[in-house]
Amino acid sequence: MPLTDQTRVDAESIVARYPAGHGRSALLPMLHLVQAEEGYVSPAGVALCADVLGITKAEVAGVATFYTMYKRRPVGQHIVSVCTNTLCGLVGGDEIYARVSEQLGVGHNETTDGEGTPLTLEHAECLAACDYAPVVTVDYEFFDNQTVDGALQIVESLQRGEKPTPTRGAPLTDFRATERLLAGFPDPRPDASTAPTAGTPTLAGLAHAGTSATTVPATPAAED
Ligand code: FES
Repeated sequence: MPLTDQTRVDAESIVARYPAGHGRSALLPMLHLVQAEEGYVSPAGVALCADVLGITKAEVAGVATFYTMYKRRPVGQHIVSVCTNTLCGLVGGDEIYARVSEQLGVGHNETTDGEGTPLTLEHAECLAACDYAPVVTVDYEFFDNQTVDGALQIVESLQRGEKPTPTRGAPLTDFRATERLLAGFPDPRPDASTAPTAGTPTLAGLAHAGTSATTVPATPAAED
């Protein structure tokens, strides 16, 4: 979908979240907004960000090409991320990525173009869920403790147009809707914020601290 006057209004509303003189801090959520509209960081999106922020297109591109969440080619309806960082890779992530890649017929940052819902595949660095390794995400929602068969079932379900239920977090939408949330706009779904998030392994340390009377030193006051 091409950028519109509303896109510019939304971009300017992102800038307005920041104190005067710090508008360029808005660039990261603005790039997510561009991806919500265009499915990737398009040349038109780079130009819009540069124009709204009063910086050069090269400065925008420098940021957009630094972070892996900003895509240079259009993403499919869903993005499937397989963690192949050290921990996940050792306990099955590398095998999951290889088999999913084979099943979809695409490699890193490539999108299916055959029958079924278009999916973009990426191998990801640590997805901050090592306690559930190996981990797969779809549109950045978690599918924990994956197996090859489980991951293949997820992508087959997605290709049929279904939205499998994540292990935790909000129900799936699609890549572009997720990107709008990452741009900081509210989630219109009433049940999204009530979905389970942290699970037992993540909270184990906190639970232990509670039962063992472990305390943490107070954080020193910041110096001016
Ligand atoms: S190494 Fe996979 S989530 Fe951390």
